[in-house]
Order: sequence, then structure tokens, then C-alpha cells
Amino acid sequence: MSTNNNMWKNVEEGKTTIITLNDAARIYDSLVFYNPRMVINRDLTLLMLEAIYSLENEPLTIIDPLAGTGIRSFRILEEIQPEVIKQIIVSDKNPKAVEIIEKNALNLKNKDKLRIQKADAYEFIAQLMNERVYPDIIDIDPFGSPIRFIEISLKALQKKQGYLFATATDLQVLCAKYSDACFRIYNAHPTRYHLCHEVALRILIYNALISAGRLGVAIKPILSINHEHFLRIKLKILESKEEANSQHKEQGQVHFCPRCSYYQIIRLKESFNLDACPICESNLEIAGPLWLGTLHDKKYIQEMLKIMDQKDLPSQDQIKKILSIILEEEDNPFFYYLPYMLRQIKKKGVSRQQIIEGLLDEGFKASRTIFDPEGLKTNATYTEILELIQKY
Ligand SMILES: C[S@@+](CC[C@H](N)C(=O)[O-])C[C@H]1O[C@@H](n2cnc3c(N)ncnc32)[C@H](O)[C@@H]1O
Ligand SMILES: [Zn+2]
Repeated sequence: MSTNNNMWKNVEEGKTTIITLNDAARIYDSLVFYNPRMVINRDLTLLMLEAIYSLENEPLTIIDPLAGTGIRSFRILEEIQPEVIKQIIVSDKNPKAVEIIEKNALNLKNKDKLRIQKADAYEFIAQLMNERVYPDIIDIDPFGSPIRFIEISLKALQKKQGYLFATATDLQVLCAKYSDACFRIYNAHPTRYHLCHEVALRILIYNALISAGRLGVAIKPILSINHEHFLRIKLKILESKEEANSQHKEQGQVHFCPRCSYYQIIRLKESFNLDACPICESNLEIAGPLWLGTLHDKKYIQEMLKIMDQKDLPSQDQIKKILSIILEEEDNPFFYYLPYMLRQIKKKGVSRQQIIEGLLDEGFKASRTIFDPEGLKTNATYTEILELIQKY
């Protein structure tokens, strides 16, 4: 990043340079928000758009309705093959942000593909439906929670069975620092223990599920991650009442032990009478309701990894690491936390990799997880894992 003069500064990200205000030392004090730490979030958007195009072969109409400086859309226009993009509609309710977007658009090669508007995101998405503009992608990137924009976005995406991308940065709410707020906003109980990030993502998807159900559409999560201070979900919308009905069964709660990491999933309408952990007798915690279905569609992940080989994105190495773990990760809900399991049987020096290999040899599914470097996803029961660890 280099300073041009007192009022403006250049921001370079990937292969794109924009100008923005040079009005504050801290990003949160600027009149227009740009967070360089979110580069990985934007890199992932670029990769996913190319993956979708490569799988569906249709140029994409994209709405970026909380655009800030517009950096995300400018990077899409500058760094992705032009045939991928049909149109990008960029808007923000902050007039200063729109001024910056317009200033940056002057230097753009593909100007004809860009529409800029000053608008409230909710009202603008509704207005676009009135104009019969049907997007393939809506990218919701707000301050805090995306919840207010989810249902209207799903409705706008219904016609073309498009994709919703949404960021949540309200982790203090979704990871239980403010549990009451989580219950009010997301109608779900979060947790602050080791399952907090997976619970948070599944609460977010559960909320999209409920909105989708009302609209008579189904959702298919294609990539769901937590990274540093944000969550990011990407969902495909499917026009199928049958699928919508059947996926409504994919909701429930997780009952888990914060001391030994034993857990039990309870689907809607199932009952569960244990108050104490059957392994260590601690009190069980309950989180949910939440989504219990799959978090990713691996064909998109494989495509992203393939595309990435020909790219040089700023957060390439981090993304490669995350996507490679996701590719091998067992897609069943939740995980065991190995340090707690080892403590439970007073065992030391057994690695996660040894346990994974042991479980695979015995015919179980087992893998690492993006949610924790010491987490283990498996279909083996807690007792079966302990029996295996005892053998080392
Ligand atoms: C986190 S920033 C966006 C960052 C941007 N997407 C990026 O990748 O750099 C959130 C933006 O949403 C805008 N915003 C907040 N509430 C809005 C609303 N109801 N309608 C439209 N824009 C809104 C803010 O002005 C701000 O620019
Ligand atoms: Zn326990």
C-alpha cells in the first residue's frame, strides 16, 4: 500500500489497484471500510466464481450489495477471465463509498459490465427483482451478521437457482460471548467450547435453511469455512420442494461434553435423556438448533484447487491448506478433541495421524478437520476410539 497524497491512497490487492480515502490510521475509523485482512475472503470469491463457471459454463450476473470500496468487484473484473462475467452490480448505502467506487470505475477496462448504485442492500435486491434482473450470485459481506439479507437474497436467486455467498463477522454472538443475542438473532444456542466454530457455521446455515424452506427452495452448502475473525458460507439454491422437504430433517442439536469431548447429535423430534456425560459424568452442554447436513460439495473444492494451480493469489498458500483439508475431511457433523480424549485415559504421545490411520485400518472413516488442528472427524464411537488409543 502506498500513499499518493494526503487525501487518497492506493490499495493494491492481488493484481488490482484501487484508490480509497486516506482519512484514518485505523481501518475502523475510515469513512469507507477496507480491511486488508479480508483478502483471503475475496480470493475465495474469485476462485469460487471461476469454479462455478467452469462447472456450469454460463456467464454470471453478480450482485455485490455491501461493496465498501468495491475492491471485491474490481478484483473480479480485473483478475477473472472476462467470459466468466456477464454483469456486476455494485452498491452500498454509504454515499462516500459509492463516490469511491465511481472514481475507481473510471479506469476500468470492462466498464460496460459494471452497474453502480447508492442503495440500501435489502431494498436494492428487491428493486432488482422488480426490474426482472435475476442474479446468479449474491455476495453479502456486511459488518457483523448477514441475517437480515439472507431471505431476500434467496428469493432473488430462486429464479436462476443461483448461489448465495455470505460472510458473518459477529463471532462474539455466534461463539457465545453474547449468547442471548445469538438466541434472539439466530434463534439458536451457541457454545464457547471447542465446537464453537462448527456450531456457529451450522447455526448460520440453519437460518438459511429456515428461510429457504419458507420460499419452497432447498439449499446446498458448497463451501463453509471459519477463518480468523469471520465465517463464510456459500450455498447453491435448488428449486425443489421435494428436496426442501427432505432436507428439513437435517436439523437438530448437539449435546456434548466440554471436558472429554464426547458428543451426541439429536435430530428434530428425537429425544435424549442424558444430563451427564456417559464417559466422564460432567454436565453436558447443548447447542442448536443447527444444520446437520453436509458443509461442502467437493466437486467445487476440487475445481477451485485445479484453478488455483494457474493463479497467483495473495493468500494462495493458506487457501490451498484449507481446501486440501476440506477435500479429505469426513463430512459428518462435529469432531472429537484429542487432547481431552488422551487426558481421559491418561495417555501421552499418541498423534492424531496415528489415530486416524488406526481407525482407517479398522474400517472406520476418519480425518482431520478444518475446525481444529487437534480435532478428529470419524464415524467411530468415543469408546471405539479410546479402545484403539489404548493399543498404542
Ligand atoms: C464489511 S464492509 C464491505 C466490505 C467489502 N465488501 C469488501 O470486500 O471490502 C460493509 C459495507 O456495507 C455497507 N452497508 C452497511 N449496511 C448497509 C445496508 N443496509 N445497505 C447497503 N450497504 C450497507 C457499509 O457502508 C460498508 O461499506
Ligand atoms: Zn465427558
